[in-house]
Amino acid sequence: MSYALITGASKGIGKAIAETLAAQKINLLLVARSEELLEQLADNLGRQHQVKTAWLATDLGDSGATSAIMNWIRENGYEVNILVNNAGYGLSGRFDAYSAEAHAEMMRVNMTVPVMLCREMLPLLQQHSQAYILNIVSSAAYQAVPGLSVYAASKAFMLRFTRGLRYELRKTNISVTAVSPGSTDTGFAHRAQVGEKALKTAEKVNMTPEAVAKQAVAAMFAGKTELITGFINKAGAFFAWLLPKKLVEKASAGIYDLD
Ligand SMILES: NC(=O)c1ccc[n+]([C@@H]2O[C@H](COP(=O)([O-])OP(=O)(O)OC[C@H]3O[C@@H](n4cnc5c(N)ncnc54)[C@H](OP(=O)(O)O)[C@@H]3O)[C@@H](O)[C@H]2O)c1
Repeated sequence: MSYALITGASKGIGKAIAETLAAQKINLLLVARSEELLEQLADNLGRQHQVKTAWLATDLGDSGATSAIMNWIRENGYEVNILVNNAGYGLSGRFDAYSAEAHAEMMRVNMTVPVMLCREMLPLLQQHSQAYILNIVSSAAYQAVPGLSVYAASKAFMLRFTRGLRYELRKTNISVTAVSPGSTDTGFAHRAQVGEKALKTAEKVNMTPEAVAKQAVAAMFAGKTELITGFINKAGAFFAWLLPKKLVEKASAGIYDLD
């Protein structure tokens, strides 16, 4: 019996991905920090869709988090054929508004843990005739974003890593996909502490987490390399590529009240 492991499954896009997969009768392993939310979601989805669910509350910012997840999987003998690296967050504002450790912790959650999970999970994923890795990236990966500099850089890393890994694994049973949402109506903006102006801009173009999850899961099962969700976000990435970089960066700095 195989499972999909989803990080950041307690809320937002990760929760919506869990719901989407459960509706397709896929068993779930849910990981995040919020114990109560995970327990509720696991119970609800298990009952509603008749799938097996289990959860692990762990802080992916802790250096032992990947080992904790792998030990949990091995001790329970879970077979995993889908890995969804979704957990992530941003810290908005000036670079020097946050300590070096705060930046490092975010980079651990956004980059180090997903890379480590991909590496540790490979032997498990290889045991299935078909397996998938879905990395949730961001439209911020397509440009530098003053006011979210480290976050955007972490997502650019994940985009490049995902494409490289996909190529390396192209002749294997493991399909690797990057999905980049734009502004999505989740707890992300609150945790990132974005200001009023950025919130208002986001509200105009926000997608729902359910719409993002639906597109992400479809892209994963279709074996796509890379998907930016929604037309506006696709157009944004295209213009960020087309226009002079300084212009694009100035526009972002304006949104994040840096100028
Ligand atoms: N919302 C957007 O506008 C947007 C746009 C582009 C990309 N994304 C990306 O989409 C992904 C999901 O974000 P979201 O929008 O759904 O945000 P969210 O509602 O804040 O959810 C984030 C999820 O990650 C988990 N998480 C955060 N820090 C964690 C940690 N240290 N350890 C374990 N779990 C942790 C949270 O669970 P706990 O709090 O329970 O730990 C939660 O389940 C992220 O990678 C984000 O970068 C979001």
